[in-house]
Formats: sequence, C-alpha cells, structure tokens
Amino acid sequence: MRMYDLIEKKKRGGVLTDQEISQMIEGYVAGEIPDYQMSAMMMAVYFQGMDQKETAALTLAMARSGDMADLSSVRGIKVDKHSTGGVGDKTTLIVGPLTASLGVKMAKMSGRGLGHTGGTLDKLESIPGLSTSIDGDRFCRIVNEVGIAVIGQSGNMVPADKKLYALRDVTATVDSIPLIASSIMSKKLAAGSDAIVLDVKTGSGAFMKTLEDSIALAREMVAIGTEAGKNCCALITDMNVPLGNAIGNSLEVIEAVQTLKGEGPEDLTEVCLHLTASLLCAAGKGDLEACRSMAEQALQSGAGVKVLADMVKAQGGDESYIYDTDQFAAAPFARPVLAPADGYITHMDTEGCGIASAMLGAGRVRKEDSIDYSAGILLHKKYGDRVRKGDILAMLYSSREELFEEAEKRFLQSYVIGDRPPQPGKRIYARVTSGGTEIYS
Ligand code: URA
Repeated sequence: MRMYDLIEKKKRGGVLTDQEISQMIEGYVAGEIPDYQMSAMMMAVYFQGMDQKETAALTLAMARSGDMADLSSVRGIKVDKHSTGGVGDKTTLIVGPLTASLGVKMAKMSGRGLGHTGGTLDKLESIPGLSTSIDGDRFCRIVNEVGIAVIGQSGNMVPADKKLYALRDVTATVDSIPLIASSIMSKKLAAGSDAIVLDVKTGSGAFMKTLEDSIALAREMVAIGTEAGKNCCALITDMNVPLGNAIGNSLEVIEAVQTLKGEGPEDLTEVCLHLTASLLCAAGKGDLEACRSMAEQALQSGAGVKVLADMVKAQGGDESYIYDTDQFAAAPFARPVLAPADGYITHMDTEGCGIASAMLGAGRVRKEDSIDYSAGILLHKKYGDRVRKGDILAMLYSSREELFEEAEKRFLQSYVIGDRPPQPGKRIYARVTSGGTEIYS
C-alpha cells in the first residue's frame, strides 16, 4: 500500500477497503505516514465523504490503535454519554451524578475544550485538587464505590484520534461527518461501556450547523455503536443558544450544582432530564416515560449533589466546593455588556459567545495555553428575551482586565436585536435509535 495511491483513490471518490484503512491508521500511528499525507487524506475525505462501511472500518482501526479500557471489574451495566461539543454544555456534571444516584454506573472518558467549545475535564479541574489522570484500577474502584468517575483520554488510549484530531484542528477538517463520527465512536468503543447515549448538538454553536447534518451524524454514530454490540441512541439537542446561563469553567460547575439542587435554568434542566432518561432507558431501567419520572424525582431529591461531591473527593478534589460553591474564587475583574438598542433578541451566534469566553481566558487559543478557571460569561438575556437599551445582556469575567475590550466586541457581535419577538426556540429536535429517527414537534 502506498499512501499516495490511497489519497489519489479517495480524491477521485473511490471507496477504501477495510485493509487499506487499517494499514493507513497503523502506519500513521507508527509515524511511517507523515502529517502532510494524512492532511491530504483528511481533506479528500472532507470533500468526498466515506460510506458507512468505510466509516465503521476507520472507527474500529482507530479504537484498536492503542489500549482498550477494561471495565470488567465494574459491577452491573456501565453507561457512557458523549456530547459533540457546545457552549455552556455542562450536562455531564449533572447527568452523570443523577444517573449514578439511580444506581446506573457511568465510567466516563471526557475531553478538554476545543476551539469555541468547552470541555468537561477543564471544568472539573477548576475544583481545587481534583485530578482527571487516574489509573485504570482506581478508576474502576471509584465507579464501583461512587457510581461515577470522569477521566481524560489517558496514556495510550486511541492514539490515532489524538494525532488525527490535532491535525484536523489545524487543517480545517473538523466538521466532516465521517471524521467526527469515527473520532467520537472510536473513543466510546475503547472506553468499554455497555450503553452509549450521544448528545448531538445542532445550530450556530455546534460543529453541525443544520438539523439535517446533525441527524446524519447521529445516524452514522448510532449505526457504528449498534454494529459494535452497544445499546446506542442519540438525542439531537439545541445549540443555537448557549446551554444554561454560565459559560466558563468554575462558573459552569456552580451552575451544574444549582441544577442538581433543582434550581438550574429551565433549558439546561430540560436537556439533562432527557439525557438522564435516555441513559436509564439504555441501561434497561424501564421505558422512556418511566425513566423520565425517575430522573425528575432524583432531581427534586437533590441526591445528585452528594454523588458529585463524593466523586470530587474520590478524585482528590475538595468536595466542600460542591456543598458551598461560594468558595470558588471570583474573577478579579468583571464588566457588564449593555444592550445597544431596544427590542427582542432574535438571534445568537453561539459560536461567537464561546469564542468571547475563550478570549477572556476560559479557553485555549493554543493547545499548550493554561486556563483561567474563573473567567467566562454569565448571560442575563438570551434568545427571545425583550431588552431595553442599556439593560445588562451579560457579565464578563476575567483575571486580565486588558482582555475585556476585544472579548466584549466579539460578544456583542453575537447578538441580533430585532423589533419583533422571534419563534420560540426548541430544546430537543429528535431522537435517533437503531430502529429509526423520531422527530419531535
Ligand atoms: N468531538 C470529538 O471527540 N471529535 C470530533 O471530531 C468532534 C467533536
């Protein structure tokens, strides 16, 4: 096999065989295929696509490129959830503890922030002492004892994705359905859970901007998961508006705790209840309706707060921050962003809100940048809200005052204020299972 020939084949719309794909991934991980050839292949896939068989072969080759998690010492059904990435998306911190409080274990491998989107590991690491680098035995012990643990993609797990993702990030080849599907599902298969619920975001703050593309991505991933013997489904959820009101690491942990106490924003609560119900259902706890009421009851009881605190403690963090979120250090500087006109918020460029938060220090501009955990944005007005000129749209927070000017500009560009109230937004658009796609009205 010559990599040149494979690039040529894909460039002309050819279909790669299983063997060609696995040799290509092996060669790339071994350093025998250089980045420039793999970049050309990624771009060829971006334009020519891959059929379902090719995407499945790519996923398996990537999943097997390194160590696979061994969860055999964890008792019972293990569930996993994965979001395709969004702004203000702190659902793992809510859904995981809720699910665990109902007796279903979650062994979760999470990622860091990417571009305009936040990452669960960065959010968790805003809690003093907490570590997400945990060895396999301790990880399984925590899942058995607490019901949930969250770790990073450790050591030699899915090295093919680590290399490919870094390459795609700098070659404008992230937003490709076969490449996202194989990246996410390779990690899910290597992580070893029995059931997987995918939260596929759609809209201005998602990698997939249209509902059509989001459903296609969800179908692709559910097909791969099902083929691999997992109980797998996907929810298509809204990312035209940031989820909840908090964007930024410790701000999002605080909002997650409020939500676990039943005091969270309505949109975030609704999405978390849907995801929790789907996870319980995938774990065989009952039909969706029954699982939804279990999730609601768990939320009302506040049981998830203790589970989250127990997980923080087990991972070396100071759990008193969960019981008393006032302990999180506030950012030294804060600045209000004021509405420039009267009217209704008729559009939000959610990606722009995520970029503004990253510009305040909540995200990384380069891979090696450190994070300002207290930086971010608290939204006071969102899509559909009526505003008067001078109302506070949001508060910006940062440890570096000089970052406000540019971030504020970017944030304001993300709001469109019009004369009439817009159509009400939706939270959940569709549910995709191996049996088909249900579109919610
Ligand atoms: N999240 C991933 O893990 N991979 C992608 O390609 C996109 C989002």
